[in-house]
Amino acid sequence: MSLLQMENVNSYYGAAHALHDFNLSIKEGEIISLLGRNGVGKSTTLKSIMGMLTVKGDVIFDGEKLTNLPTSKIARKGIGLVPEERRIFSNLTVKENLLVGVSRKGVWNLERVYELFPVLKEKQNRMGTLLSGGEQQMLAIARSIMSNPKLILLDEPCEGLAPVIVNELKKGIAKLKEEGMTIIIAEQSLRISKVLATRHYLISKGEVCFEGSSDQLFDSPDILIKYLGVQ
Ligand SMILES: Nc1ncnc2c1ncn2[C@@H]1O[C@H](COP(=O)(O)OP(=O)(O)OP(=O)(O)O)[C@@H](O)[C@H]1O
Ligand SMILES: [Mg+2]
Repeated sequence: MSLLQMENVNSYYGAAHALHDFNLSIKEGEIISLLGRNGVGKSTTLKSIMGMLTVKGDVIFDGEKLTNLPTSKIARKGIGLVPEERRIFSNLTVKENLLVGVSRKGVWNLERVYELFPVLKEKQNRMGTLLSGGEQQMLAIARSIMSNPKLILLDEPCEGLAPVIVNELKKGIAKLKEEGMTIIIAEQSLRISKVLATRHYLISKGEVCFEGSSDQLFDSPDILIKYLGVQ
């Protein structure tokens, strides 16, 4: 059974129709990617799941219809969005950032998120803004995990990060995968999803234009070139 399903979802920013007849599903413990160029609708898909814009159609999570619930309720049901802009609290330390707003009890705690991203333990008393971009990304993911979500949505986790930092991030997300976390990764390139995701949705102009396993995607050079510009 799917943990999350989007069935014939159409999403709107006011009068602007951003997602068209969108279908997606993810099983528990799976990592999938949403891929596509700038402005195709990756963030909009994640925001549609979180109820952050007008959505028609069905978003079903854990057997329950989420469509048109307020974002805060959707989050409390166990979905964590790590947005593109990370939104670290600048006036709080790393540790305070992690302890703020823990809304669901469960197996995750400070010690366990420090195991995912050891640099956060080293810098636990430093202010959030004094972290590098990569460390802020790790903090944003760790903060989301502290709420014990069943599903996390990572929006462009590698954006603007150097390759060595991306490797650190990948290690942490790989550990989360081993722990059985269910994850949707939105990316313009395949930096993290190439290794960690096993199924992929390619998006173009607000529509799914390809859906398949890693083997199917990497055996389709024409699709990779057309929709992602990669050889
Ligand atoms: N707040 C908004 N109001 C109106 N239109 C929006 C809004 N946010 C996004 N859009 C439009 O929705 C479409 C999809 O945008 P979205 O941000 O989902 O793209 P994306 O795939 O995440 O791109 P990127 O890779 O640049 O993050 C774009 O045409 C964009 O202009
Ligand atoms: Mg985006």
